[in-house]
Amino acid sequence: MPGFRRWGKSKFQKNPESSFKLLAAVLVITLYLIIKEFSHPTVRTPVRPATAGARIQFTEWRNGTDRADAKKADQIKAAMKYAFWRYRENAWGYDDIMPVSGGNMTTRNGWGAFIVDSASTLALMGLWRELSLSIEHILRTDFTYSKDPVDPFETTIRYLGGLVSLVDLSDAGVIPANIIDQETRDAILKQALALADALGPAYDTPTGMPWPRVDFGTQKGMPDPPELFREHPDKPRYANPVIGPARTGSSILETRTLTRLTGNPIYAANSTRAWAPLVWNKWKTTWPGMPDAPLDIVTGEPVSRQRHWDGGHDSYYEYLVKMTLLAPSSDPYLGVYKSRFLSAAHSLRNHLASRSAPAPNHAMQHLFLGRQSDPWYLNRQSHLSCFAPGTILLGSQYYDDKYLRTFALALLEGCRHTYVSTPSHIGPESWSWIPKFGFDDPVYAPATPRQLSEWETSGFWSTDAKYRGRPEYLESLFYAWRITGEARYRDWAWEAWVALEKHTKAEFGFAELRDVYRVKEEEWSGDGKGRWVDRQESYWVAETIKYAWLTMTGVEVASLDSWVFSTEGHVFRMIR
Ligand SMILES: *[C@@H]1O[C@H](CO)[C@@H](O)[C@H](O)[C@H]1NC(C)=O
Ligand SMILES: *[C@@H]1O[C@H](CO)[C@@H](O)[C@H](O)[C@H]1NC(C)=O
Ligand SMILES: *[C@@H]1O[C@H](CO)[C@@H](O)[C@H](O)[C@H]1NC(C)=O
Repeated sequence: MPGFRRWGKSKFQKNPESSFKLLAAVLVITLYLIIKEFSHPTVRTPVRPATAGARIQFTEWRNGTDRADAKKADQIKAAMKYAFWRYRENAWGYDDIMPVSGGNMTTRNGWGAFIVDSASTLALMGLWRELSLSIEHILRTDFTYSKDPVDPFETTIRYLGGLVSLVDLSDAGVIPANIIDQETRDAILKQALALADALGPAYDTPTGMPWPRVDFGTQKGMPDPPELFREHPDKPRYANPVIGPARTGSSILETRTLTRLTGNPIYAANSTRAWAPLVWNKWKTTWPGMPDAPLDIVTGEPVSRQRHWDGGHDSYYEYLVKMTLLAPSSDPYLGVYKSRFLSAAHSLRNHLASRSAPAPNHAMQHLFLGRQSDPWYLNRQSHLSCFAPGTILLGSQYYDDKYLRTFALALLEGCRHTYVSTPSHIGPESWSWIPKFGFDDPVYAPATPRQLSEWETSGFWSTDAKYRGRPEYLESLFYAWRITGEARYRDWAWEAWVALEKHTKAEFGFAELRDVYRVKEEEWSGDGKGRWVDRQESYWVAETIKYAWLTMTGVEVASLDSWVFSTEGHVFRMIR
């Protein structure tokens, strides 16, 4: 457990002198709160500044199974070091390195996405030398300048979340003071605030749902960039910009933490307003908890009837449950968030989950998640929605819902099936199956000889065979391991990691795969590099490596009883 220290309670229990100090402090705080309560009766302050409290993680560990599997954890940490140093030597300061050619890419406004997004991973792993270099870069960067339009969603989850997480990790003592001293900690927070303030114009719409982009020069919100429609000519254009649940509903963990750190309510308030049209949805919805989307950011009206937990909708549902873990118990809306999450998870289970019918050479049935695109049920799932097992398991544990627990673990088995069925043992970007019940005429059926053969042997067929560095399967395994304590989830994570390292490791980092069914060098002409896509998104270092490592390390590291993970894998303290 490099660099990890427990904080809080234990310090006071042992030393009688500090117990006395604690008692005195509690008295003073109580007195202060009473006076405050009477002078401003409406202002709510978090009254219990204690960390932890939620009993999420498994507790009945036997025979030391909760300890790190040191050899495996170290192998994953070595992969993180490899990614870091290849980037450091070849593309330092750029957003991404190109893992095959060693080139660089500016994909996220040029502030060094790799550096900010990987920082919380480096911190948890205790890679202090690497983290110090990253902090130097972070303090030197002007996060308020960008010549390109800024995407508020991506910027919030990758950059703002990364910066805020560093402050929390430092305050919690996970990052020692010789790496981040008080002055550095304050300077990082200042960078986070500057960025959050620069993103402010995003929320300047009649509904509070964010603009697709912000122009940092004019400090104004902007519609979708025209490239979007050139690159995706099928994408419908509407009168006003439209937004999906994920983009408007995944900033509240980051901003709520910023509000806690600064005492300024505006950050959380803007995010609350941004997701209000989903949480307090006034349009008639077919299934409880699942709003129709996307929504018009000017009128708040749904422009289409899409309902699912897949890409574009996913992290709204994730943030509902995580917000109830993160927010102080005085937050008046926690009951609403909990009830929305539970309804949405049950709607998902009742309406969108479907078992695959047995295939000629594969009798087993697997649980997959389709999507509704009114009036059609689309029998297609993507890798992104493999986050759902982990998030639903988290909710089932926190809210004590047995049905959801069984559901989550069945979904996780479905995701695993897509991994172990391919020659690379890595799951594809998206796939389809023949639903066993209820859908006599599925929208998708295997059409090509390849699809037929994949379906016959494994009961599903890939509809996009790429692997894009995505973390969701490992993320869900991390939750499953920490919550159930069942060794198989750790084993599955190791199995996935071994495959990922073997097939994606390239000269300058970890590449994406063109086809998880064709990974042998000799299947590709020339030097075999054609099997790779020359791209390494920052979530590879923010999430994929982090979740793999956290599943192998001791269960007290970044415990789910004390930390909430953002949709980008950044950790925020649970302070209630
Ligand atoms: C713990 O170890 C003992 C002795 O090695 C073994 O008999 C027992 O089955 C183990 N228990 C579990 C839960 O694995
Ligand atoms: C980044 O890429 C550009 C070309 O795209 C190249 O000119 C430049 O030298 C690269 N920078 C580094 C540090 O390799
Ligand atoms: C909050 O939202 C308002 C619009 O309602 C916007 O003008 C302001 O810049 C936002 N501030 C922050 C910090 O997000």
